[in-house]
Amino acid sequence: MTGFRIFRWSIFASALVPAAALVYWTFTGDLGANPIEFITHTTGTTALSLLVITLTITPLRRVTARNELIRLRRMLGLLAFFYACLHMLTWVVLDWFFDVASMTADVVKRPFITMGMMTFVLLVPLAATSTAGMIRRLGRRWQQLHRLIYVAAVTAVIHFWWVEKADFRQPRLWALALCVLFGFRVWWSLQTRAARTRDAFTFLKDGMLRRG
Ligand code: HEM
Repeated sequence: MTGFRIFRWSIFASALVPAAALVYWTFTGDLGANPIEFITHTTGTTALSLLVITLTITPLRRVTARNELIRLRRMLGLLAFFYACLHMLTWVVLDWFFDVASMTADVVKRPFITMGMMTFVLLVPLAATSTAGMIRRLGRRWQQLHRLIYVAAVTAVIHFWWVEKADFRQPRLWALALCVLFGFRVWWSLQTRAARTRDAFTFLKDGMLRRG
């Protein structure tokens, strides 16, 4: 196995630790005084962390020029979706036990639930189109569709912000992380555009000099 494959497998295994711990603690009865709250907290924060880590892959790849890093992006994105599913299922099964009428009322009445649902809905098409076949079939549209991950990250942070009642330190940190990532994206595209303009200008100048 190559070094990168081992690295990839270790990231995969580490990302599954929170889920494995939840299963283990369910059997040992160590989920604390409020198990539903604990499961919601663990799955929600892991989903958000993995979503933001997924967004760091492209900047990291650009800064380090290590193209193989791109192979981590799909895996991390799918792991984020996996935890988002567990988080959503906790609400569906443990909070409401499939009571559709109450769940609909909850989505309508509580803005933070609306925002969580919106985040989840945004992640579904991304996970559904993450296969190599879909990437090929959708072509350029795949990239456009997958920009939705930025919107999902913003709605996830808003969801977290609205969950909190008094201590906003954590959501503030996530919002700051997103600002840094978006800032990098804007800076990078400005750099690329400037380099392209410079190249075009040099090409024209060389052509004119040759003709003249
Ligand atoms: C169907 C969609 C969702 C529902 C119904 C939902 C519901 C909830 C609920 C009930 C809580 C706990 C609120 C409380 O403690 O009073 C919560 C917390 C949270 N959710 Fe969601 N959520 C959804 C989607 C998401 C998604 C997709 C993410 C991340 C990608 C996310 C991240 C979080 C985070 C970080 C917390 C705070 C955890 C804590 O500190 O306790 N949620 N959510």
